[in-house]
Amino acid sequence: MKFFIDTANLAQIKEANELGILDGVTTNPSLMAKEGIKGNDAIMNHYKTICEMVDGDISAEVISTEFSAIVEEGKKLAAIHPNIVVKVPMIKDGVKAIKWFTDNGIRTNCTLVFSAGQAILAAKAGATYLSPFIGRIDDSNWDGVELISQISQIYSIQGFKTQILAASIRNALHIVRCAEAGADVCTCPLDSILGLLKHPLTDIGLAKFLEDAKKTV
Ligand code: E4P
Repeated sequence: MKFFIDTANLAQIKEANELGILDGVTTNPSLMAKEGIKGNDAIMNHYKTICEMVDGDISAEVISTEFSAIVEEGKKLAAIHPNIVVKVPMIKDGVKAIKWFTDNGIRTNCTLVFSAGQAILAAKAGATYLSPFIGRIDDSNWDGVELISQISQIYSIQGFKTQILAASIRNALHIVRCAEAGADVCTCPLDSILGLLKHPLTDIGLAKFLEDAKKTV
């Protein structure tokens, strides 16, 4: 399973990248706004900076919702760097645009996915990645990881090549459960990635080893 970091914060991207386990980055307009990135030039430059920092797929989201505008915006995003993946919302014109991008050699990440039906449609259009938002599904009292399992089964039975990119990850357990459920990628906040490190018995065991090591010098 690949690990992406879900942020536009350069310090967090650097920290995750330095761990040596990072395969890519996902962003969205909310994450860009959170970092105070404003205006088209600043946004394009920010994507370029991220592409130069991380050797992996970088999702850049369109904000257009009409087919021709999505295509024009996506072409500009894709031109920033070969590693850019154009992130397109799961709407009717979005599906049409994903098909257009597929036919024209531009990779896509279909975002805002909340059902197996949407997953089938995105795969039929040739999406490179599919982003089910599992945390938001949990927030609405459904089981987000269960959706990952269902999509994984459907894609496997049907031979769809679209990669399942589990998004809206809230904690380390989500990552483990998505790995079990067949996600190809997890895009996670830095805290959730670092949460995978934690176990109290590791801390207790290390303290004891270091204490005993003093007796051996
Ligand atoms: C994924 O690509 C999305 O940007 C993200 O995971 C959404 O997460 P949220 O539900 O925490 O906003």
